[in-house]
Amino acid sequence: MKSSAFVILIFAICSSVNSGQLKRVWMQDHCTSGLCQGVTISRDDYVILSNTPITKQIILTFVNSTIAKIPHLMFDTFPDLQILRMDNCSVETFEKPQFEGASNLMGLFLANNQIRDIPKNIFLGADNLNTLSLAGNQLRHLQNQSFNALKELKSLDLSHNKLENLPPGVFSPMRKLMELNLSNNQLTAMPERIFEKTPNLTKVHLSYNKFLKFESEYFKNHPKLSLLDISGNPLVDTTINFDVLDTLLANDCELHKLTIYGYVKEVELRNNSLQDIPNFPNAANVTVLDLSINPIASLEATSLRRYIGLAKLNFSRTKIHDFPEGVFKKQTKLKVLDISNNSLYNLKVSVFDNLKALQYFYFHQNNWNCDFLQLLMNSYVKRREIVFAEDDLEPDKVDDYVDGVACWYESSRTSKKCSEDGESVLELAIIRNDIKAFVETVDKKFVKIFRLLDEIKSKV
Ligand SMILES: *[C@@H]1O[C@H](CO)[C@@H](O)[C@H](O)[C@H]1NC(C)=O
Ligand SMILES: *[C@@H]1O[C@H](CO)[C@@H](O)[C@H](O)[C@H]1NC(C)=O
Ligand SMILES: *[C@@H]1O[C@H](CO)[C@@H](O)[C@H](O)[C@H]1NC(C)=O
Ligand SMILES: *[C@@H]1O[C@H](CO)[C@@H](O)[C@H](O)[C@H]1NC(C)=O
Ligand SMILES: *[C@@H]1O[C@H](CO)[C@@H](O)[C@H](O)[C@H]1NC(C)=O
Ligand SMILES: *[C@@H]1O[C@H](CO)[C@@H](O)[C@H](O)[C@H]1NC(C)=O
Ligand SMILES: *[C@@H]1O[C@H](CO)[C@@H](O)[C@H](O)[C@H]1NC(C)=O
Ligand SMILES: *[C@@H]1O[C@H](CO)[C@@H](O)[C@H](O)[C@H]1NC(C)=O
Ligand SMILES: *[C@@H]1O[C@H](CO)[C@@H](O)[C@H](O)[C@H]1NC(C)=O
Repeated sequence: MKSSAFVILIFAICSSVNSGQLKRVWMQDHCTSGLCQGVTISRDDYVILSNTPITKQIILTFVNSTIAKIPHLMFDTFPDLQILRMDNCSVETFEKPQFEGASNLMGLFLANNQIRDIPKNIFLGADNLNTLSLAGNQLRHLQNQSFNALKELKSLDLSHNKLENLPPGVFSPMRKLMELNLSNNQLTAMPERIFEKTPNLTKVHLSYNKFLKFESEYFKNHPKLSLLDISGNPLVDTTINFDVLDTLLANDCELHKLTIYGYVKEVELRNNSLQDIPNFPNAANVTVLDLSINPIASLEATSLRRYIGLAKLNFSRTKIHDFPEGVFKKQTKLKVLDISNNSLYNLKVSVFDNLKALQYFYFHQNNWNCDFLQLLMNSYVKRREIVFAEDDLEPDKVDDYVDGVACWYESSRTSKKCSEDGESVLELAIIRNDIKAFVETVDKKFVKIFRLLDEIKSKV
C-alpha cells in the first residue's frame, strides 16, 4: 500500500516539474547507519531519494552536505523518521508542502543554516514535532502563522537569528511549549500578550537582545516558569515580580538597580553596574548570588543580613577593599565564597568566623599583607581544610607567597609608624591598591612603585 502510494507520488511530482531538474540522490550511496554525507541539493532540484520507501530509519543526520531545501519526498522515503538533523547544511528555504507525511517526526534540527523565512502553515503535517531548532539562521521576521500545526512542540530554539519583532500570535499554536530560546536576536520589545497561550513555559531565554525594559507581566499566568534569562540587554532599572522562580540570569546588563519580588533561588548578576546588594524582600530564599564584576566597592555590616540561606556567593571583581565586621554573620550555610581579584589588603580574620559550612574560598588576586594572609591561612583556611586557589603572578612582581597566594610586606619601620595612625594606613592601602590596579594593566612591574611608595611613606 505504502509503496504504491509512493510511486504515484513520484509520478505526480515528476509530471508537475516545469522548471528545475529532476535529480536522483540515492541515499544508499551517501548514508551509513543514519549518517549521511556529501549530499548536494540546490534550490531548483526535484530530488528522488530512493526507488522505494526506506522503513525503520528513525534518525538521519546530514554532515558535510549542501542542501538548499529539505527534499520534498523526505518523509515519504523515510516514513518512520523521528529525528532529522540538518545543521550546518546551508538550508535556505522550504518547499510547500514540506512536512506532509511527517507525523512521526519528533526532532527537527536546522541550526546554522541560511533560512530567511518561515512561511505560514509550513509545518502542517509535523503534528507530533516535539523539538525544533532554527538557531543560527537569517530570520528577521516571523509570521503570525509560522508555527501553526506544532501543537505538540515543547522546545523551540530561535537563538542567534536577526529577529527584530514578533507577531502577537506567533507562539499561540504551541500550547505545550516549555522551552523557548530567543537569545542573540535584535528584539527591543514584545507584544504584551505574546505568551498568553503558552501557559507551560518553563525556561525562557531572552538574553543578548536589545530590550530596554523587562515586564514581568509577560509571564503573569505562567506558574511553571523556572528559568528566566534576560542577560545582555541594556536594562538599567528593573523590577522582577514572580511568585517563584528557580533561576534568574541577568548578567551583562547595565543594571544600576534591581528589585525582586517573589521567590528566586539562584540569581546571577555578573557584570552590571550595581553599587548595592539588590533590594529583595525574600532574600532568605536565595541560595546562589553572583555579584561579580559590579562596582560595589563597600559593604555595610548589615548588607547581607537577610541572605541567610546562601550557599554560594561571588564578590569577585567588585572593587571591595574591606569587609566590615559582622557582614557574614548570618551566612552559616555558605559553602562557596569568591572574593578574588579585589583590593583586599588586611581584614579582621574574625569576619569569617561564622562561615561554618565554607568549603571553597577563593581569595587570590588581592593585595594581601603577608602577615594577615599567614594568619588567615593558619587560623581559618587550613584549619578547616577549605579549598582555595593560588595566584599565578610571577615572583618578581610579588614580595612573597603564602601557600601560593601572593602577598606584600610593609617595611617594619613604616608599619610601626603607621599603626599609630590607622586612618592613614587605610588611605595608603587604598592608594596602593589603585596604583596596583592601574599599573597591572600598563606595566606589570609595579613592585618598584610600591617600594617608591614605601620610601615616600617613611619620609612622611
Ligand atoms: C567533514 O569534512 C571534513 C573536512 O572536509 C572532515 O574533516 C570531516 O571528517 C567530515 N565529517 C565527517 C563526519 O565525515
Ligand atoms: C556547525 O559548524 C560549526 C562551525 O563550522 C561547528 O562549530 C558546529 O559544531 C557545527 N554544528 C553541528 C551541529 O554540526
Ligand atoms: C495572529 O494570531 C492570533 C492568534 O493566533 C490572532 O488572534 C490574531 O488575530 C492574528 N493576527 C493577525 C494580524 O493575523
Ligand atoms: C501543562 O502541563 C500539565 C502537566 O504537566 C498538563 O496537564 C497540561 O495539559 C499542560 N497544558 C497545556 C496547555 O499543554
Ligand atoms: C539558548 O541560548 C543561549 C545563549 O545563546 C545558550 O547558552 C543556551 O544553551 C540555549 N539554550 C537552548 C536550550 O538551546
Ligand atoms: C560586560 O557586559 C558588556 C555588555 O553590557 C560587555 O560588552 C562586556 O564585554 C562584559 N564584560 C565582561 C568582563 O564580561
Ligand atoms: C523560603 O524560605 C522559607 C524559610 O527557609 C521556607 O519556609 C519557604 O518554603 C521558602 N519558600 C520558597 C518559595 O522557596
Ligand atoms: C566568580 O566570578 C568570576 C567573575 O565573573 C568568575 O570568573 C569566577 O569563576 C566566579 N567564581 C565562582 C566560584 O564561581
Ligand atoms: C581581575 O580584574 C581586572 C579588572 O578588575 C581584570 O582586567 C582581570 O582580567 C581580572 N583577572 C582575572 C583573572 O579575572
